Amino acid sequence: MAHLSIVTSILLCCCVTYLYAQQQCEQSVNVARFDCFSDDGPTQERCEARKCCWRPPVISMNLTKIDSADFRDINVPYCYYPKDFPTYKVTSDEQTDFGQRVRIVKSQTTYMPHDILDLTVDLIYETQQRFRIRIYDSAYQRYMVPLKVPVVEKKANMTDYAVTVQSNPFAIFVTRISTGVILFDSSVAPLIFADQFIKFSTRLSSPLLYGLGEHKQALLINITDEWKRLTFWTRDIGPQPNTNLYGSHPFHINLEQIPNKETNFHGQFFLNSNAMDVDLQPLPALTYTTIGGIIDLYIFTGPTVQDVIEQYWDVIGKPTMPPFWSLGFHLCRWGYNTIENLTAVIQRMHDADFPYDVQWTDIDVMSNKLDFTYDTKNFHGLPELVRTLQANGKHYVNIIDPAISSTQPAGTYPPYDDGLQQGVFITKYNSTEPIIGEVWPGATAFPDFTNPKGIDWWTRAVSAFHEIVPFDGMWIDMNEPSNFVDGSHDGCTMNSLDNPPFTPHVVGGNLTSKTLCPSAQQYLSQHYNLHNMYGYFEAQASNIALQRVRNKRPFVLTRSSFAGSGQFTAHWTGDNGASFEDLYSSIPTILSFNMFGITHVGADICGFAGDTTEELCTRWMQLGAFYPFMRNHNAIDDKAQDPASFSWEAQQIMKQALLMRYSLSPFWYTLHHKAAMRSQTVVQPLFFEYPNDANTYNIDQQFLIGTALLISPNLVSGSNTVHAYIPQDVWYEFPSGVQLKTVGQYIDLDTPIQKINVHVRGGFVIPMQIPGDNLVLGRGNPFILLVALSQGGNATGSLFWDDGDSLDSIETKTYNYFEFTVTGSNTLTINGVVMNYKDSAMALGMVKVLGLNKTVIGVNVNGKAYSNFLYNSLDDVLLVYGLDLNMLAQASQTIAWTTS
Ligand code: NOJ
Repeated sequence: MAHLSIVTSILLCCCVTYLYAQQQCEQSVNVARFDCFSDDGPTQERCEARKCCWRPPVISMNLTKIDSADFRDINVPYCYYPKDFPTYKVTSDEQTDFGQRVRIVKSQTTYMPHDILDLTVDLIYETQQRFRIRIYDSAYQRYMVPLKVPVVEKKANMTDYAVTVQSNPFAIFVTRISTGVILFDSSVAPLIFADQFIKFSTRLSSPLLYGLGEHKQALLINITDEWKRLTFWTRDIGPQPNTNLYGSHPFHINLEQIPNKETNFHGQFFLNSNAMDVDLQPLPALTYTTIGGIIDLYIFTGPTVQDVIEQYWDVIGKPTMPPFWSLGFHLCRWGYNTIENLTAVIQRMHDADFPYDVQWTDIDVMSNKLDFTYDTKNFHGLPELVRTLQANGKHYVNIIDPAISSTQPAGTYPPYDDGLQQGVFITKYNSTEPIIGEVWPGATAFPDFTNPKGIDWWTRAVSAFHEIVPFDGMWIDMNEPSNFVDGSHDGCTMNSLDNPPFTPHVVGGNLTSKTLCPSAQQYLSQHYNLHNMYGYFEAQASNIALQRVRNKRPFVLTRSSFAGSGQFTAHWTGDNGASFEDLYSSIPTILSFNMFGITHVGADICGFAGDTTEELCTRWMQLGAFYPFMRNHNAIDDKAQDPASFSWEAQQIMKQALLMRYSLSPFWYTLHHKAAMRSQTVVQPLFFEYPNDANTYNIDQQFLIGTALLISPNLVSGSNTVHAYIPQDVWYEFPSGVQLKTVGQYIDLDTPIQKINVHVRGGFVIPMQIPGDNLVLGRGNPFILLVALSQGGNATGSLFWDDGDSLDSIETKTYNYFEFTVTGSNTLTINGVVMNYKDSAMALGMVKVLGLNKTVIGVNVNGKAYSNFLYNSLDDVLLVYGLDLNMLAQASQTIAWTTS
């Protein structure tokens, strides 16, 4: 009897436990499962050892196959957290000057080694639109990202957001006060905080996201019915989908849509530089899994998307103001191989009369691939060639890789000797010896740009080479950092930095793949923590070195980037292919980099890898003319693709695209000034300007320059039409000025090979200039104002102008700033708001007014009748020409027209 009752109670107990476990695992929808085994190789046994639930995905009634309609079943985790998975609870909660400090503890460890049981949570109300959450070990200081971010000690009042903390289990909720929309909700999954495994999740406001780079993906990350994983670990690899690439930008923008209400946006930035996965699921929710640092998360409440970007850049730093010359056309290739070939290309570009500004060279110019050298045999006369280019207003940029050859005879190669002596190279784990890997010149050491001595050493190397070849800008490549051997020549250690308990899903499967051992030691921390910032620190050092050496505004182009790199550098999208697919994908990448604060960005025009075709290269030159950074670059051994290498017909088309770009250079320059001073993107997706038009949310085959020019390129081989979306607005074709009749829908634009679709938006004044052979030679040329009237007959615009490359023109106010306004359809006012830069003439030569539908019978310039004008009643265009109006003559000038 007694036995029976023991058996019964055991059975009962098992039954209750089983039922309880069932309940804890109950999840009516797959999308609410949070992955408990994102490492490779989950099995039921391993899953249950973690005290997680193991279940095949739920098949809903109306689905015959789970992967056919809603989502790919491969991404629905079989192993997921039960509702009662052990996590933290609040033990104390106090109000502080900055907001709130909460102590959270956990009573038992979970499945990752070195679980940290006692954490501190700081909730910092930084501004009315910026909220910061920091979660860190209560007892020991951990690695924190060495980015200079604002330190806020006083809590902001009247914030746009409200915050609540749930005690048990611990969770944070952030909502937008005006709408109640959830901006952050960590209650969806348990927080895990172990030494090398930090994982937390948040519910998203909608499945529509942007950002999370660097990845080759569409602009809109739509997880309505998709699970997705994005990995962050800077890597030398030609862009391909589902792979970690050259840069790390754990920032996203989330769209909040409420029926019949204005669309709002908010942003989130995870300030963490360790290797990480970001998992997205259709709940919709986002999970960060990082393997180091702390949780340092910013929420930006917008509410417009440009507000979000401004709030983000307030934290990471605004983009640098580029030198004016760098907005021109750049020509490069890997494999000129001799000075004769290089000279021949420059000559044919000149003979064919292409506007171009910057000639580049690649590693084939170096002597034995050694940084800071040139091959005096094959490139004999390079310094003279550079000086000749410069005498003609052109500029020259050369490549520098970070890795420094470590095998040159002692005393023969100062960059290594000096670096070794100064101790600026990254060292092996627990050693003072440089870690040696392999790049182009063979065995190499890797400079540590986080070491202040590294910046001085780099400056010396830059300066010494500049004495020999007076280059104007630096192209910093291979700075992920790339390494041709995994880890180092001696392999890596067995320690947990080189073999972490969890490795995010990096290409190659291992953190050491094609880079340095994570355990290598840098000045500020281990490479494990700083890897993603290698390019950031190199760009900073190069920017400083160039300033010191040239004493002019620096131009740096980097491949690898991190949040904030835009303060120091431009960026190109790396080793793309010569294909129409890559032509398209350049657009979402460039638009995303604008959100990341690296506004001066472009892709290798005509394609880097593989032979281009005349059609592809023509289309690419047309599109590239509207990239913020315009460079044609090609891989070694591939067919020449400089514009002058093509047929006469193709050359004329490319030239036309270049002339369009050059004529818009004052507009481009003003946009860069707006980016640097007012945190506005230089190019942007359509939804930035039309946030309430859901048709725009996934458009990434068209884009806007500033807010006024719409570019709709032809991205399809053999096609003569572009199916383009024309937002509800007033649009004029550029340059003809003819108004588009059909708007607010998709239309087919006739786009034969000689055409690129550019439309000007009504309501804007675009400053332009008659192009010269290059931007320097064209500086004194007459300006043109293109006035595109809105429906109501108004327009506004501005122009920033200075000498184009001095370091401090903005600080010393040595510039001119004009504002243009048209009101009442009949007077253009030019207001010189700042007019301190008088070294170069600024003559207004022409004004073109679009959308004037009444016959113009007279024009007055500053009150005096002016007879050089033409009115085209067919197209409603007024042209006032031959003006020669000194824009600096007085603070306010007018051009008025009278109509019949
Ligand atoms: C890789 C770069 O991405 C590419 O642009 C360059 O031409 C080669 N390295 C050679 O330097």
